[in-house]
Amino acid sequence: MTLTAQTRTDAAAGPDQAPWWRQAAVYQIYPRSFADSNGDGLGDIPGVTSRADYLAELGVDAVWLSPFYPSELADGGYDVADYRDVDPRLGTLDDFDAMVAALHGRGIRVVVDIVPNHTSDQHAWFQEALAAGRGSAARERYIFREGSGPGGSEPPADWESVFGGPAWERVADGQWYFHNFATEQPDLNWDHPEVRADFVRTLRFWSDRGVDGFRIDVAHMLTKDLTEPLPSRAELDALPFDGKHPLIDRDDVHEIYAEWRRVFNEYDPPRTAVAEAWVDASRIPLYARPESLGQAFNFDLLQADFDAGEFRRVVTDNLVLAAASGSSSTWVLSNHDVVRHATRYGLPALGPDERGRDAVKQGSLWLHSGGLEPQLDREAGLRRARAASMFLLALPGSAYLYQGEELGLHEVAEIPAAERQDPTFYRTAGEEIGRDGCRVPLPWTAEGRSHGFGADGSHLPQPGWFAQYAVDEQERHPDSVLELYRAALRLRAELQTGERLEWVETGRDDVLRFRRPNGWEVVTNFGTEPFALPAGEVVLASGAAVAGVVPGESTVWIRGAHARV
Ligand code: NOJ
Repeated sequence: MTLTAQTRTDAAAGPDQAPWWRQAAVYQIYPRSFADSNGDGLGDIPGVTSRADYLAELGVDAVWLSPFYPSELADGGYDVADYRDVDPRLGTLDDFDAMVAALHGRGIRVVVDIVPNHTSDQHAWFQEALAAGRGSAARERYIFREGSGPGGSEPPADWESVFGGPAWERVADGQWYFHNFATEQPDLNWDHPEVRADFVRTLRFWSDRGVDGFRIDVAHMLTKDLTEPLPSRAELDALPFDGKHPLIDRDDVHEIYAEWRRVFNEYDPPRTAVAEAWVDASRIPLYARPESLGQAFNFDLLQADFDAGEFRRVVTDNLVLAAASGSSSTWVLSNHDVVRHATRYGLPALGPDERGRDAVKQGSLWLHSGGLEPQLDREAGLRRARAASMFLLALPGSAYLYQGEELGLHEVAEIPAAERQDPTFYRTAGEEIGRDGCRVPLPWTAEGRSHGFGADGSHLPQPGWFAQYAVDEQERHPDSVLELYRAALRLRAELQTGERLEWVETGRDDVLRFRRPNGWEVVTNFGTEPFALPAGEVVLASGAAVAGVVPGESTVWIRGAHARV
């Protein structure tokens, strides 16, 4: 598959230049909530194709599609029943090929999500394992054990799943299987050669269809040491994450990625991959190095408060780590697992306890367990989000954006319990509100059925206030969030010439200023007092323009302040 309009990529930069992904702006699509072409309430693949012009106009280099595979939707599609097909409700493989062609034709790369830790319980392998019974070869592909206690009626261990509730489930013949996530997501046994071979086949299947890269779901959880006796939950929780933990971030997982890297490198250009690995920062380079997946998400910014000191520390540390790994850094403020950043920044800041080890272990669910009112200050949240996003888009490395953040969308808190979908909500009896609030279908139009998403309804209900965030509404306003993102993404082509950043001291704890290799400067004022504007031409401002200053809670990009550094 060739790209016909590579304006922002390696082909345009010449063969000796950095690969396309090193400083790409990657837009995450949650397919069931993006655009619904057939009016059944679920977004679909032709819906993505129909919005290819929107994505091109936005100016992103790539899209990453969350799972669109056949699934019973026990976990928003992260319970995959067939890794090499499209959910019939979302389209066909032909639709997928047409989407890839439409995106490539506009110079936009395509990254798909691979979910290797677990399958759906509807996957043919798991169904076979259930039917074949204890001791069968089919059960070897998963993690089955006898129970403990009288007659094996207790689980093999008292472990808790990431989504709450027990991590072991009993099947009809009395054996138990392990699931890190929902009951419908049995963990695979990565010691099994068939499991390894099948995922290589899947990577080739999508690579052969022209997919440019892969996002690897919970890349740090695949391998396990389940030597008996199994540790108790308390013992497990006390163990360090040092590469030998029985369940998380084990050193032996990297054998898998070394093999995958050989597969990626069979292609021209080599396929890329980004690890979703919620691990200690010091261990991120293991996933990000070129012999492994090549890049890894860094979720530190996403977990930081809107605070100059925190942002500076995160950026400094992660640039060092990225350099150590031979990769480029990644930056994320929102995704389908967390409360949208416009909302996070409008809520009282979280204490360190709420962002501790459990948060990292769970990988997402560390935010709010209740509704958002009355504490939410929508305007302040959005103002800070605009400033933080413009800070992020000016950093060296890849920017991962989540659908709807370019509209400044807030979290939708008012989803009735009966319409919630996230398994966390059910598995914690509502104690964790779950992630549905950031997955509500996008508003494309202020008026019209489901705000232009599709026909009459949408699989998660849209609130009335979505109208003011709609794409067509924002296109009418030059100072809208959408126009700000478009301008920033256009300017990134000029900004991302090198991967360095140099801090310039500001004399204030609440103002950050840095310089990029093209000589541009970026100033973010995290405080409320205006900061004197440095010399040069302001090419972008996240807030209202005020002569001579960077207003509170805003970011400006300044061209021509200095010679190249
Ligand atoms: C991480 C994904 O981002 C999340 O949405 C999913 O629930 C879990 N992995 C399990 O696949």
